Amino acid sequence: MSSRTRATASPLFVPHKTDRRSARVARDEFAAARVQARHASQPETIRTKTGAAPELRPTYPAAGRPGPDSGRGGRLKLPAHRMTTATASGAYPFLAEGGLGAQGIYVGQDVHAEAAFTYDPFALYGRLEGFTNPNILLAGIIGMGKSALAKSLAVRAVAFGYRIYVPCDPKGEWTVVTQELGGQTIALGPGLPGRLNPLDAPARPHAVSEADWTTEVRKRRLLLLGSLAKTVLRRELHPMEHTALDIALDHVVAYRTSTGTTPLLGDVAYVLGSPEQLEAATGDRSGRLGHAAEDLAHALRRLIHGDLAGMFDAPSTVRFDPGAPMLSIDLSRLGGAGDDTGLVLAMTCASAWMESALSDPTGGRRWVIYDEAWRVMRHVALLERMQSQWKLSRGLGIANMMVIHRLSDLLTAGDAGSRGRALAEGLLTDCSTRIIYRQEADQLATAAAVLGLTGVETQAVSALTKGRGLWKVAGRSFITQHLLHPRERELFDTDLRMAA
Ligand SMILES: Nc1ncnc2c1ncn2[C@@H]1O[C@H](COP(=O)(O)OP(=O)(O)O)[C@@H](O)[C@H]1O
Ligand SMILES: [Mg+2]
Repeated sequence: MSSRTRATASPLFVPHKTDRRSARVARDEFAAARVQARHASQPETIRTKTGAAPELRPTYPAAGRPGPDSGRGGRLKLPAHRMTTATASGAYPFLAEGGLGAQGIYVGQDVHAEAAFTYDPFALYGRLEGFTNPNILLAGIIGMGKSALAKSLAVRAVAFGYRIYVPCDPKGEWTVVTQELGGQTIALGPGLPGRLNPLDAPARPHAVSEADWTTEVRKRRLLLLGSLAKTVLRRELHPMEHTALDIALDHVVAYRTSTGTTPLLGDVAYVLGSPEQLEAATGDRSGRLGHAAEDLAHALRRLIHGDLAGMFDAPSTVRFDPGAPMLSIDLSRLGGAGDDTGLVLAMTCASAWMESALSDPTGGRRWVIYDEAWRVMRHVALLERMQSQWKLSRGLGIANMMVIHRLSDLLTAGDAGSRGRALAEGLLTDCSTRIIYRQEADQLATAAAVLGLTGVETQAVSALTKGRGLWKVAGRSFITQHLLHPRERELFDTDLRMAA
């Protein structure tokens, strides 16, 4: 507002023929209104400077870098020059990425472009070249805000009508988020009433025939039993063992179907442990099958009589509610005593139960979040299960998110060329979105090699701060600062116990 306007406008607001008191009041009001108007016309960045979170503040004011280094002294005069954008990007390399568009879930700020960064794997699918699947890999050292990002995406995705599933939550940190969203939490642990039967048969989707569905359910159950056995035995199964599992499962299912109940892990272990039942089922009286099944019976025993007793060997105490916005399985009460095999077995059973409940293709768009997934990386059997689930997920409208610490977690699955390594690399290929939070200095080379990072990107990864990550979305790169709402910050705080 120029001084001229002010001079002509004020008599309108402060008329002459009034007493001094009301003239002064009117004058004061006009002055206040003027201050307010001037304030409103100031650029956003200056007004928010003091109030905004430190990560929101721009590095320099809108007018650019101040001082003699700004190059704005007016002394540098160049003639105008026209070129194509392809040439321009070479001649002037300081351009920021254009962004992924405004469609999707707000994540935070694109640090280079200083623009809002939004992301939605379902919206990008088919729109972005090379974006072949909705899955996400999130890697970063402890405490950099990986879980906070996953939780934010989950909470914000609910507003888009997506449903969120957290099949195993070993730290129990998702429970409060689930409850806040009005979802369902199942807590499992010694002394807790919750039970999940991983052999539950999910409701048959309308589009699938009865026979196809029976085959599908059988395949899932066998895969689960196989991975449980392999995890405990720490080896591949022998052909005879596969046969024994097959026969035991069919025997149990036939019996349970006739009584109208659901098979239990204990039933399968019982049949595996009794050679006469196996022999009766096959007609092979040589005793070889019974002998071959001994190891299997002992392996499954751990789930029935060991530290996980009862939890996965009883009819489920909860029913899967397909309408709930969110569902999480809290395994924090299992404790981390001894080796982590117990927890890994529990994670397997819990995710198997949940994944089979998600096998309805008409269930809408869903997110499945595997927080702390690095724990399962060392177990080839679990990688196998995970990969077969991921292969299905595209057809089911499911986006998977896997949270690990470092990229070498993927390499611990086996030596180069081994089955475990191939599976882990396959999982990585199945993630069109890779989000890299800060990595330790000794991990940078691995990260760069596994993800094909450029030198600049590698350097950026080593210097990332909390909540800041390198997002590689189908070959495009962004450095993004994840912004938390104050309420989210409260809900997601995992430092609370450290501070208390
Ligand atoms: N973008 C962010 N801004 C502010 N605080 C954050 C942000 N991301 C995470 N935090 C805080 O940092 C702490 C650690 O985050 P967390 O997600 O548990 O880390 P991680 O899962 O990587 O170990 C939490 O208390 C969380 O509230
Ligand atoms: Mg975490």
